[in-house]
Amino acid sequence: MTDAFESVTDVVDKLATHGYIADRRLATTVYLLCRLGKPVLLEGPAGVGKTELAKVLAAATGRRLLRLQCYEGQDESRALYEWDYGKQLLYTQMLREKISEIVADAPDLAAAVERIGDQDSVFFSDRFLSPRPVLEAIRSPEPAVLLIDEIDRADEALEAVLLECLDEYQVSVPEIGTYIAEVPPYVVLTSNNTRDLSAALKRRCLHLFLDYPDAERELEIVRSKHTGLPDALAAQLVGVVRELRGLRLRKSPGISETVDWARALAVLGAEELDAHLLMETVNVVLKYERDLNRALEALPRLVSGGRTAPAEPAHAHAHAQFDHGSPGEEPDGRAVRAAMDRLGRHELGYRLPSSLGVTEPPGHEHHDNGRSGNGAGQGQRAFSAATRRRAR
Ligand SMILES: Nc1ncnc2c1ncn2[C@@H]1O[C@H](COP(=O)(O)OP(=O)(O)O)[C@@H](O)[C@H]1O
Ligand SMILES: [Mg+2]
Repeated sequence: MTDAFESVTDVVDKLATHGYIADRRLATTVYLLCRLGKPVLLEGPAGVGKTELAKVLAAATGRRLLRLQCYEGQDESRALYEWDYGKQLLYTQMLREKISEIVADAPDLAAAVERIGDQDSVFFSDRFLSPRPVLEAIRSPEPAVLLIDEIDRADEALEAVLLECLDEYQVSVPEIGTYIAEVPPYVVLTSNNTRDLSAALKRRCLHLFLDYPDAERELEIVRSKHTGLPDALAAQLVGVVRELRGLRLRKSPGISETVDWARALAVLGAEELDAHLLMETVNVVLKYERDLNRALEALPRLVSGGRTAPAEPAHAHAHAQFDHGSPGEEPDGRAVRAAMDRLGRHELGYRLPSSLGVTEPPGHEHHDNGRSGNGAGQGQRAFSAATRRRAR
């Protein structure tokens, strides 16, 4: 396949054609991802366009998108492949007579088991393999974009499992051999930054911290969504959202929230943005009661000219109190990280509530030993060169 992009500028243009406004830094990373064939790891708060980038990259390059959504406790069978047990069972039932023939003249049970064992390869073959997104991307005859989304939600063991794929664009199935991608997929990993990722994983990726965009780019994004809100009001709204991000909110509004708010205001026929109108509609962007109360308190000040200095998004959460919600709620990555940094995450006995999916066992150490230090079962995936074969 020819190169997807001719230059960094070409990346900016092609992504824009598909509705994604990228700055030079992001576009350069995407360009390198395609030219160097290296996975890219995007870290940053929720709602800054990490997932969207992978989707748009697929659209802009005409590649198929395969997505692995990560979650706590996810095991490798959900990421790489599973054996289709139901199908195996169905085949053995349908082939019962044939199987009886094979063992018919076996002198004893041990010999019968031996003969059945000889047939293993029939049942542990391509035919009975259910590929999950990672293997699917490697085996895909069409070029693919593999999105490994929110990897910080998964356990570190899964990171280890992915290393082989990230390194060499291959997946080993002990019973079959090693699948090697004919066309390496573009791999995009995202993290909301709720925990540190392993150094081994980071080392294999181009890394980019994606933050809230500057006001100009955010306005450009809002414009590109044709919200119907007059430009001057959109610019003002972007300013207000940026101020809100400077409050100590549990969940700061992302870009999609700004767009939603602009749409809501347009539908209401807003002609000017006064505190009253903003207070009436701020629930469009803030979904936690405490956040809402904070915003309601701040909004009159934010629009009355008595503005605080413009918020510095990158540091806005540096002092955020670590405030965990009920199970299943999305933690604000930076608040969690800030708490981690304060406490010193390697201190003995230090734990975060497991409801956040960021439990850290005491005395835990990062393993950074490549494939050999992998999670259960993964060690077996290391194959001798002799058994390797090129997957069909
Ligand atoms: N650079 C961008 N250009 C256009 N739209 C964007 C951009 N960044 C974010 N968005 C919008 O914001 C929404 C949220 O982005 P998303 O990728 O889901 O965030 P994240 O994965 O970082 O949490 C997207 O659906 C998209 O509409
Ligand atoms: Mg996302």
